[in-house]
Amino acid sequence: MGAALLYGVPAPGLAETPAGAVQLSPLIPGSSDLAGLADASADEAVVLAPPGVLERDFVLAHVLRALKPGAPLTVLAPKDKGGSRLKKALERFGCEVSEDARRHHRFCYVTPPTAPKDLDIAMAAGAPRLSQSLGLWTQPGVFSWDRVDPGTARLMELLPTLSGKGADLGCGIGVLSLEALKSAKVTGLTAVDIDRRAVDCARRNLEDPRLEVLWADVRRLDGKLSGLDFVIMNPPFHDGGAEDRALGMGFIRAAAAMLAPGGVCWMVANRHLPYEAVLAEAFPKAVALKAEAGGFKVYEARK
Ligand SMILES: C[S@@+](CC[C@H](N)C(=O)[O-])C[C@H]1O[C@@H](n2cnc3c(N)ncnc32)[C@H](O)[C@@H]1O
Repeated sequence: MGAALLYGVPAPGLAETPAGAVQLSPLIPGSSDLAGLADASADEAVVLAPPGVLERDFVLAHVLRALKPGAPLTVLAPKDKGGSRLKKALERFGCEVSEDARRHHRFCYVTPPTAPKDLDIAMAAGAPRLSQSLGLWTQPGVFSWDRVDPGTARLMELLPTLSGKGADLGCGIGVLSLEALKSAKVTGLTAVDIDRRAVDCARRNLEDPRLEVLWADVRRLDGKLSGLDFVIMNPPFHDGGAEDRALGMGFIRAAAAMLAPGGVCWMVANRHLPYEAVLAEAFPKAVALKAEAGGFKVYEARK
């Protein structure tokens, strides 16, 4: 018997998730890569569709490729995060779709056709690629996938020459790590991100013997990183599409825990985020606001 597939984690009670399903979301460390699924091998699938069009169509195309002809597919998304466009997206692949709405979500029940249309186009459009403008490997769906984030750019302008052992928390495709590794005084760097697509790109972008890249949740490193001289980060403040300030706060606490006494954390954050209290608590000795402009704040916090 073939596998059941699951992409994402629908809220409890929203969709019946097949028992023993193979998780495919790149945002869950340890999950399987949907691009590696064999053609026509799966018996059913449930997909919580991601919001970006290229990313969503890439996922749907791979899942349709991997399903046996006629195997049932349920696709859902919040109405205001692409749900209202799901049916059309699936019909463009030649699917027959019936639609339903519940708890601010749209649900599409799909019987995949024997020969879905245009899967190759969607799989190519959402695949990892070498961006000419960035000069880096990237993929639709990863953070700021087609440009350098302005907050990250600001932090890069202010970073001093770093030295010793450090970490880039929430490294994305590796823009900050690349900057840190320009310093010959950096002896080791661990780049961590929860998004497999980002860490795959970072590995390709940062071929350097001083570097280790981890696909992991920064808040669950369980002491794996300690005694560091520096941390650099542009912490996330969205989880599953919703603003989650606790996530950035978790990054600040994690950074403090992994630094040696005297170690330094360089961090950029959107100006509206209230990180001052948690910075003061995690770094009671010294927190300096180094710049505040263009909607961003850059901090240097010393352990
Ligand atoms: C604001 S982006 C910064 C990305 C990159 N450092 C840059 O400056 O372009 C935050 C990154 O944190 C990652 N992220 C979100 N939650 C995470 C978690 N719990 N653990 C590790 N990484 C996480 C996201 O995938 C994203 O790449």
